[in-house]
Amino acid sequence: DEIHHLGRTMLDWYDRHHRTLPWRAEPGETPDPYRVWLSEIMLQQTTVITVGPYFAAFLQRWPTVTALAKAELDDVLHAWQGLGYYARARNLHKCAKVVAAEYNGIFPDTEDGLLKLPGIGPYTAAAVAAIAFNRHSSPVDGNIERVISRLFALETPLPDVKPEIKQKSAALTPSDRPGDYAQALMDLGATICTPRNPACGICPWQTPCDGRKSGLAPDLPKKRKK
Ligand code: ADE
Repeated sequence: DEIHHLGRTMLDWYDRHHRTLPWRAEPGETPDPYRVWLSEIMLQQTTVITVGPYFAAFLQRWPTVTALAKAELDDVLHAWQGLGYYARARNLHKCAKVVAAEYNGIFPDTEDGLLKLPGIGPYTAAAVAAIAFNRHSSPVDGNIERVISRLFALETPLPDVKPEIKQKSAALTPSDRPGDYAQALMDLGATICTPRNPACGICPWQTPCDGRKSGLAPDLPKKRKK
């Protein structure tokens, strides 16, 4: 049916066009939860381009969550310099200590379990559950808000529309590959379904996209007036 077809189309596109990123496992490979978690924390208020070298430096110096737990906080803060939002670095270190001391160095493999950890909110819990553990979780970041609000031409402004976006994205998620599906939406939003001048002509969802058909796509998602 239509819903399953949409998810499948997105995965086919991802298999051909996904970005190769330092923290990302190739489709079919087993992801490292530590890398997925570290990258999601770094990517929260920082672009993919900026994060690259920081991610590489962290991974070389602290290759596992247990190694990061043993680091001095000052060293972590120093290595974080330039990424900004230092509360993230403090929570990162705190989280590593909890995972090392209370979880035997193994990240919980469910959204609920991840939510209990310091510095992991609803977005990060869903992203790590989906990407690292292939759980049927639906992270909604800015890219995914844009892609889904356009696909269904959702005109309700943010943030009110967010639950509907999450529900629609969940309904489209292929149950065998939730992690790749989430990453596919992130890549589509970053490379094709961009905020301005979206490249609808090369989008795998161009035919079903209500936003493209109605001409509303470039103006979505709407934001509530302040
Ligand atoms: N932005 C946030 N998380 C991301 C991811 N896993 N891949 C690419 N961009 C992202």
